[in-house]
Amino acid sequence: MGDILKQLDARRAEARLGGGEKRIAAQHGKGKLTARERLELLLDPGSFEEFDMFVKHRSTDFGMEKNHIAGDGVVTGWGTINGRKTFVFAQDFTVFGGSLSETHAQKINKVQEMAMKHGAPIIGLQDSGGARIQEGVAALTGYTSVFQNNILASGVIPQISVIMGPSAGGAVYSPALTDFIFMVRDSSYMFLTGPDVLKTVTNEVVTAEELGGAKTHTTKSSVADGAYDNDMEALAEIRRLFDFLPLNNRDRAPVRPFFDKHDRIDESLDTMVPDNPNLPYDMKELVTKIADEADFFEIQPDFAKNILCGFIRIEGQTVGVVANQPLVLAGCLDSDASRKAARFIRFCDCFEIPILSLVDVPGFLPGTSQEFGGVIKHGAKLLYAYGEATVPKVTVITRKAYGGAYCVMAPKHLRGDLNYAWPTAQIAVMGAKGAVEILHRKDLGDEEKTAAHIADYEEKFLSPFRAAERGYIDEVIQPRSTRKRIARGLALLKDKKLDNPWKKHGNLPL
Ligand code: HXC
Repeated sequence: MGDILKQLDARRAEARLGGGEKRIAAQHGKGKLTARERLELLLDPGSFEEFDMFVKHRSTDFGMEKNHIAGDGVVTGWGTINGRKTFVFAQDFTVFGGSLSETHAQKINKVQEMAMKHGAPIIGLQDSGGARIQEGVAALTGYTSVFQNNILASGVIPQISVIMGPSAGGAVYSPALTDFIFMVRDSSYMFLTGPDVLKTVTNEVVTAEELGGAKTHTTKSSVADGAYDNDMEALAEIRRLFDFLPLNNRDRAPVRPFFDKHDRIDESLDTMVPDNPNLPYDMKELVTKIADEADFFEIQPDFAKNILCGFIRIEGQTVGVVANQPLVLAGCLDSDASRKAARFIRFCDCFEIPILSLVDVPGFLPGTSQEFGGVIKHGAKLLYAYGEATVPKVTVITRKAYGGAYCVMAPKHLRGDLNYAWPTAQIAVMGAKGAVEILHRKDLGDEEKTAAHIADYEEKFLSPFRAAERGYIDEVIQPRSTRKRIARGLALLKDKKLDNPWKKHGNLPL
């Protein structure tokens, strides 16, 4: 018996070595941790339970029949993050470059299916040369089965991808089907077609980093939701994000202990909106002043900065925040901002996370580039996402809410539950100057008359009271008590029940 136990230990030790000391050293040399080191940092100490450690591929071509490494390039299992269960897989680049074989895919399928069955998130750490070239179609079907499970799991359990090395070719579609993608700067990249093929086919000369590095995907393509400097920082931040999320679509996000009074008054908010309506201010300041302990996990902080999306907690409860940012493009909505916010709102709605909208929006950004780029369709995504959402929706208009943008940003008629406005709010079809130019075109040459018309319009429309008189705004509130009003509102809405009409699924304007 002693020998048998020793044999098991020896087999385990061999499997844990993956591709061996030399390849581990090469991995470290690139500033990357190994798959197992990453899981150790991601999960609570000692919580990782591994599955399928001894799985081997079944390939017999290209000498592969003599080339086996236990585990076949991916470490899978489950563990806990701050005591809450999660399923995980981490591709091991030291084993056949982390490439995906039929059996490697089956290991991932197993944890995906267990995650759905047991109602726990799945976190995939990607570091792979893509489909195992020696296996041909067997590897391709392996990928497809991973994609199929990603699709089935969407909206059932949170799925998080961390790109910690290469992710190339069709392989990128597994992370792309998950809820969030994070990347590590300078050591990860994602592209469908690599630089060499690009050079041959399109004559474009570009480095892998330029084509698909973290900067590209967090600032240009919006494929990734965030980037971190190294593996350790990335994994620590995933733990932080995980704490904001429920385990599945029937669970509620955890309520964390909080040390920040819900009725905290913040007098600095009374003077946050500048007297001059054309001057910007930083909406992030409002977000952090409302949040418990100023903790804000921002999604896509470097893309479409004219809208802020992310998670905060109020009275320990997770809230998804969507906020126009007057510092960028005066807070205008455009195609990118609409897509970014729509996707975030749909995530919150899938997982029963209430949505707080902070509104200061002068309208949709005008211009041919927007129209030609399909802003109508992209803006409709945001409208659809807000209107479809059945989670508690609290809206605070701090300043401008003009035109179509007012209609989109979670107003009463998109089933906003509680709609508040600061006294500085201006709810109208458009700003005074534009309105007077249309309504009083004949008086435009006359400065005195124009000024009188502008003053008249401002008096009538550029306030929250017209909307409040009709009940479209539930209450005009003191800026200083915004946190308290939101906290009380969310407490009221905690057990909200609202169903959409039965349908197979809607047809979101894609
Ligand atoms: C089998 C692979 C492999 C692969 C890498 N390796 N990719 N083995 N299949 N796809 C092996 C290498 O042979 C090498 O083995 C080890 O992994 C490390 O690779 P290196 O090339 O030495 O590492 P590096 O220089 O860091 O380059 C990494 C790389 C490169 C850029 C990822 O390996 C590469 O270009 N690989 C091929 C990428 C690719 O085109 N994949 C197919 C994408 S299409 P040894 O034994 O020498 O250490 C795809 C389709 C999916 O995935 C479709 C889904 C629908």
